Amino acid sequence: MAENSPQRVIPLIDQRARAPSAGALTFGALTPATGLLTDRRGRALRDLRISVTDRCNFRCSYCMPKDVFTKDYPYLPHSALLTFEEITRIAGQFAAHGVQKIRLTGGEPLLRKNIEILIAQLAALHTPEGRTLDLTLTTNGSLLKRKAAALKAAGLNRLTVSLDGLDDAVFRAMNDVNFPVQDVLDGIAAAQAAGLGPIKVNMVVKRGTNDHQILPMARHFRGTGIVLRFIEYMDVGATNGWRMNDVLPSAEVIALLQQELPLIPLEAAQPGETAQRWGYADGRGGHDAVAGEIGVISSVTQAFCSDCNRARLSTEGQLYLCLFASQGHNLRDLVRGEQSDAELASAIAHIWGERSDRYSELRGSEAAAPPGDGKRRVEMSYIGG
Ligand code: GTP
Ligand code: 5AD
Ligand code: SF4
Ligand code: SF4
Repeated sequence: MAENSPQRVIPLIDQRARAPSAGALTFGALTPATGLLTDRRGRALRDLRISVTDRCNFRCSYCMPKDVFTKDYPYLPHSALLTFEEITRIAGQFAAHGVQKIRLTGGEPLLRKNIEILIAQLAALHTPEGRTLDLTLTTNGSLLKRKAAALKAAGLNRLTVSLDGLDDAVFRAMNDVNFPVQDVLDGIAAAQAAGLGPIKVNMVVKRGTNDHQILPMARHFRGTGIVLRFIEYMDVGATNGWRMNDVLPSAEVIALLQQELPLIPLEAAQPGETAQRWGYADGRGGHDAVAGEIGVISSVTQAFCSDCNRARLSTEGQLYLCLFASQGHNLRDLVRGEQSDAELASAIAHIWGERSDRYSELRGSEAAAPPGDGKRRVEMSYIGG
């Protein structure tokens, strides 16, 4: 931005402190955990995504635009963050309610000091049937080369790396901190060598910005065992200046790939999955397992709210029931108060039981508009992707 050009002014109405108090979350008779919770639309709770920091060393314009996330941005103070013990205690109650997968996110989760200690604590949790959880993490890859082996040793099962292009100039422009692509590729290689598989690579596609990277990315990761996924750019948060024109629908991504790399549709691996899977075709129209697969995540053009099983725990312990929510539920007050595990479990059961969110299905309709009382959607860097 030129020195004298006007700064983009975005009112930072802070939703973070607005969650209901703990008192509002304690409910007469206790509801014990049964390993299965369903919301008002019959959707099970299976996936807990935990943001461990609201900070990041990248400034991707679709997530933490540089002119908003300056050095003066009111990041959370350390005292506001859940401790590892608090996170693990909450996660344990989610596991009792049927959560099978935990994803650590941020911001950039590898910036949280001693993250390996949290991973080791979470790796010790079990489902009611006695299985360990699927423990994974989303990273921008910048610190991965250094940390991959320690993450594996701590008990991390697998990993997803965000990477928006292979061309160094495009990648440096997208992360907006001039970070070189080779360092991320080295991080991915280190994660593979450490056995953190299957590794996924997430590419947010912005029309006119990095869509020319779709084919190079597919060629690069085909046959490596790494699953590349193309994500439609979403209107998440309130700072990225999203426009529908910037979205490249997944159908166009698939059509482009098909011209050079024939694909066949694959069945979903899990119920409620975000991605539609496509396998590289062999010469006979079957799936070439060695070439592998890609995925498309189409939350704008083909919403997948109908079986959304994901809850999100913010860095400071607010529970969000939708990526597009404007308000969370304050679990930090419960873990810092006198409440027992049974009371915490009961509060979670009530919150999920009342859930009816389905923002992406309603996008564009009156019901999806942010309420007119000044409430704003939370940022993805705060709630976690
Ligand atoms: P896997 O278990 O590895 O398949 O992970 P996942 O796809 O559940 O999670 P991941 O964080 O890799 O999600 C990829 C991208 O999908 C995110 O960065 C978001 O852009 C988008 N996404 C994930 N969950 C949701 C969701 O609940 N709603 C919407 N609208 N988008 C989501
Ligand atoms: N649209 C789609 N995905 C996004 N992410 C962040 N912001 C957006 C957005 N506006 C996702 C990307 C990134 C992860 C951390 O969050 O997948 O890899
Ligand atoms: Fe950081 Fe990921 Fe957001 Fe980029 S998308 S600013 S790497 S948290
Ligand atoms: Fe789930 Fe909300 Fe995303 Fe729909 S928009 S899939 S309800 S998080």
